[in-house]
Amino acid sequence: MTRHADIRAVLTHPACRVPAVETGPPDTLAWLRATVSRFSPPQWHAERRAIGVGALAALDPDELRREAAELTVAVLDRAGDRLDVMRHLARPVPLRVLAGRLGFADPVAAGTAVTVVAAAYHPGVDPALVRRADGEVAALLALAPPGPPEVRANRIGLLVQACDATAGLIGAAAHHLLPPPTERPASDPRGRVGTVHLLAEVLRLDPPVRATRRVTVAPLRLGGRDLPAGTSLLLRFDAANRDPAVFAEPDEFRPGRPGGGLLTFGAGQRGCPGERHALALAAGVLDVLRERCRRTGAELRHEPHPTLRVPTTMEVTVR
Ligand code: HEM
Repeated sequence: MTRHADIRAVLTHPACRVPAVETGPPDTLAWLRATVSRFSPPQWHAERRAIGVGALAALDPDELRREAAELTVAVLDRAGDRLDVMRHLARPVPLRVLAGRLGFADPVAAGTAVTVVAAAYHPGVDPALVRRADGEVAALLALAPPGPPEVRANRIGLLVQACDATAGLIGAAAHHLLPPPTERPASDPRGRVGTVHLLAEVLRLDPPVRATRRVTVAPLRLGGRDLPAGTSLLLRFDAANRDPAVFAEPDEFRPGRPGGGLLTFGAGQRGCPGERHALALAAGVLDVLRERCRRTGAELRHEPHPTLRVPTTMEVTVR
């Protein structure tokens, strides 16, 4: 599905469900998937989602942004004259800030483990990645603050959900917003716009989460089509974010557009509860990159993934 209105309708329709996942032995990736709110069936979803929402409510986005900026400065100060944003900042900084504030015992180790788990998190990936991730789930459970397994799983779930999507946003923002190798920064009109407005437009035009999935559990009519029960739906946020029925001149990069229509964080009862946190973390990193870095002109490639869009490398020059 590609139309904005159809995707909103699916995301809020009770007969459209997140595809079921199978559980596995305790402390494995399959167990984690089956225990986090993200893949939970309706009867368990609200209670599990509340664990993550409650933990996020205790975090102040302004503080997240400040800490992300401080860590970014520290990384740039140690870097030479070039740095790969994806390797050194896009995953490590947000994960370290979040893991520390969510009470994980060793935020750096937790961040490293989360990166391995995130690579295997979405169903259908290479079994070798899943086997590697199993060990890291056990490590994360040991680092998580004490509590019942379901609570610890959903705190880990916050980090895993944050990992690749926020990294994808930071990589895309560096690509779209940093000045190219030769241009003077002041000559780019984007240089005068606030980081959060710029990030919102990057999220619309180059979303790190390109799509999500649902399956129908009853026959229904949607988008002018009759769908039998059991129909798999791929909801294309990347297309809906350019739907001309919602966004005038949709292919134009125009920061400060009237808000409300963006689908990159989903919608409805399962919409992303970490939107403000993701924006704050990415803004903290980008505030510093915009001051001190330029793109190098290297070609941008993305990790192979059916629904996420995360650059493999994003090299910048540093001053
Ligand atoms: C740019 C970064 C991010 C993007 C684009 C994003 C996008 C999304 C989307 C589209 C969904 C819904 C998926 C669906 O309905 O099928 C979602 C769910 C979720 N996200 Fe995010 N996310 C981002 C960052 C974060 C961060 C930083 C956190 C936590 C700190 C987070 C926590 C979650 C959780 C826990 C869910 C599952 C919610 C539920 O089970 O009801 N996300 N995210």
